[in-house]
Amino acid sequence: MIKIKSYPLSDDQINDYLLRIGDLNTRISSESCFNNNRPLHLEIGCGNGHFLLARSQNYPQINFMGIDISRKRILKTIYKLAKINSPNVQTILGESKSLLEQAFADKSIDTCYLNFPDPWPKRKHHKNRLMKKDFLDLLHEKLTANGRFLAVSDHESYFLEILDLLENDNRFVNGLSTRYSNEFEAYEPSLFEEKWRQEGREIYYLKFIKNE
Ligand SMILES: C[S@@+](CC[C@H](N)C(=O)[O-])C[C@H]1O[C@@H](n2cnc3c(N)ncnc32)[C@H](O)[C@@H]1O
Repeated sequence: MIKIKSYPLSDDQINDYLLRIGDLNTRISSESCFNNNRPLHLEIGCGNGHFLLARSQNYPQINFMGIDISRKRILKTIYKLAKINSPNVQTILGESKSLLEQAFADKSIDTCYLNFPDPWPKRKHHKNRLMKKDFLDLLHEKLTANGRFLAVSDHESYFLEILDLLENDNRFVNGLSTRYSNEFEAYEPSLFEEKWRQEGREIYYLKFIKNE
């Protein structure tokens, strides 16, 4: 039994929702992790699982995977998933870029969500931002044909940097009728979205589709 704050989690509950890469003898795909061929949706930096939980409940016919680098956040996510029984969700504890590179099968991800990536606001820390050309190359490799990438942020300059990267990459096409949007219909809010909306911050959304 593991305790995170007041949340007790049994080993069985953790085993049900935590994918341990070392235990896999093949790369991650719907088939290898969910024993079916349903579309696989990946959330990068799923935090406490707010979005993952709501989205997976609304789309039970889709397989969801959440990655986060924080053990505490993954355990909080698992606690929520276990409480409502979520057979279409798995989580992975780890760094998303290396996991994508080393653990996911090519063309295995139908949709990838990036909700409120850490903006590293200080210029000297910009190098730590996740979304760069090499990450986009990886994403392109792992998305299925016509796979989708959705990103959301309250940080205008980082958001515009991501948008610029995608707009200048002819392997992707914009999936919205505008460059970006400040509203996304039928998009479950993450914890950060709820928090920043309450503060009155503007939220930016983009959606791009792999061009093949
Ligand atoms: C600003 S929080 C947003 C959390 C959640 N997506 C939301 O919108 O409420 C960023 C999250 O990304 C995770 N994270 C940051 N860098 C990561 C990386 N390289 N790989 C996996 N997770 C990462 C952090 O631990 C944190 O949970």
